Amino acid sequence: MSASKLPNVGTTIFTTMSALAQKHGAINLAQGFPNFPIDPQLQAQLLRVANENTHQYAPLQGLPSLRTKLTKLIDEQYGRQVESDQILITAGATQAIFTTIQALVFPGEEVIILDPSYDCYEAPVQLAGAKAIRLPLTSTFDPDWDLIEANLNERTKLLIINNPHNPSGRIWQSSDFEALEKLMSRFPNLLLLSDEVYEFITFEHTHQSIHQRSAIRDRAIIVSSFGKTFHITGWKVGYLVCSAALMTEILKVHQFLVFCVNSVAQHALDAYLDFVDVNTLGSFYQQKRDFFRQGLKDSRFELLPAEGSYFQVANFSKISSKSDIDFCQELTIEHGVAAIPISVFNADARDLSLIRFCYAKTEATLQEAIDKLCKI
Ligand SMILES: Cc1ncc(COP(=O)(O)O)c(C=O)c1O
Repeated sequence: MSASKLPNVGTTIFTTMSALAQKHGAINLAQGFPNFPIDPQLQAQLLRVANENTHQYAPLQGLPSLRTKLTKLIDEQYGRQVESDQILITAGATQAIFTTIQALVFPGEEVIILDPSYDCYEAPVQLAGAKAIRLPLTSTFDPDWDLIEANLNERTKLLIINNPHNPSGRIWQSSDFEALEKLMSRFPNLLLLSDEVYEFITFEHTHQSIHQRSAIRDRAIIVSSFGKTFHITGWKVGYLVCSAALMTEILKVHQFLVFCVNSVAQHALDAYLDFVDVNTLGSFYQQKRDFFRQGLKDSRFELLPAEGSYFQVANFSKISSKSDIDFCQELTIEHGVAAIPISVFNADARDLSLIRFCYAKTEATLQEAIDKLCKI
C-alpha cells in the first residue's frame, strides 16, 4: 500500500449520513439536494437538445452562447460587464474550486478557509502542496477580520469565502465587504475565491456579490452552480468568472482535468436561460424555510437565523448533551430524521450542539420530518 496524499480524508459526512438514513428508513434532511421535480421547461429543453446534434465535445471553455447569456445575467443581477472569455463552464462548483486552486496555488503557499466550511476546499490545497489555514468564524458565523489579518503573511495566496454560507445560511452585509476590501488593499498579492453557489437563494436581504465590488473583483474567482440554482445537483454543471489573466492559468488545468463539460447539459441550460427567471428562486425557498421554521416553533430545537441557502441550523442543547455527531446518529436511528453535525465542518471539531437540516424538500417530506422532530 503506497502512502496517501490525503491521509486525513475519509468518506464525507454527507455520504455517511445518507447511507445511515437509507439503512434506517429515515427522512434525509442531511445531504443538500432537492427531492422535488425539476422545472418541466428545463426537462423539455433537455429532451429537445438530446434529439439534436449535441453529443460531441463542447468547446474547452463552454458553449459561447451559454457564456454570452451568463454575461447578460451577471450584468442584470450585479451590474458588472464581463467578457464571455472571463467565464468558464465547469463540472459543478467543485471542479471550479479544484481547478482554481491547482492552477493558482504553489507548494508552500497558504490558503485561508473560514470554518465551519464546506468540505471541498482543503483537499485541493493539500494536493497543490500548500497549507490550509482553517480559521473559525465567530459564533454568529461572521468573519473575524482581526483573526484573518493576524494570519495573513507573504505566503498567503488565497482567501476562500462562501456567501450565502453553507452550513449556517448567513449572508454577508455591506460591512463585511468593506472589511474585506480594506484587508485586500493592505495585502495586494492576496487572491479571493468567492463561493457563491447559493447566490439566488436569499430571503429578507438580496445577495451581494463580489461581482459588485469593483475594487477587488479582478482579484477574485467567483464560483456559481447551476446545480443549486435549477435543482439539478446531479448534472454537476457550474461556472466560474475571473479576470483574463487568471483565466489563462485556470484554463491550462481545466484543459487536462476535464477538457470540456457535458455538452448536452450545456445546450439544455443555454436554451433554458431564455425562459427562466432566477429571481423567483428566493421566494420559492423562502416558503419552504418559513414552513419548516413554523412547524418547528414548538419543538425543543432552537432555530438559528436562516438568511440564505437551503439550510436551517438548529441548536439541540435543550434535548441532549451528546456530541453533535452522536446526536445526529440518534436522530436518524431512533427518531427517523437525518441531519448533519456542524462540528464536521470545523477543522478543530468545535462542537456547539448545532446540526444542519436541508429544507430543499417537498412540503409533504418537511411535514413528516416536522412531526417526528416535534415529538423529541
Ligand atoms: C458551499 C458549496 N460550495 C460548493 C458546492 C458544490 O457545488 P456543485 O455540486 O455544483 O459542485 C456545494 C454543494 O453542496 C456547496 O454547498
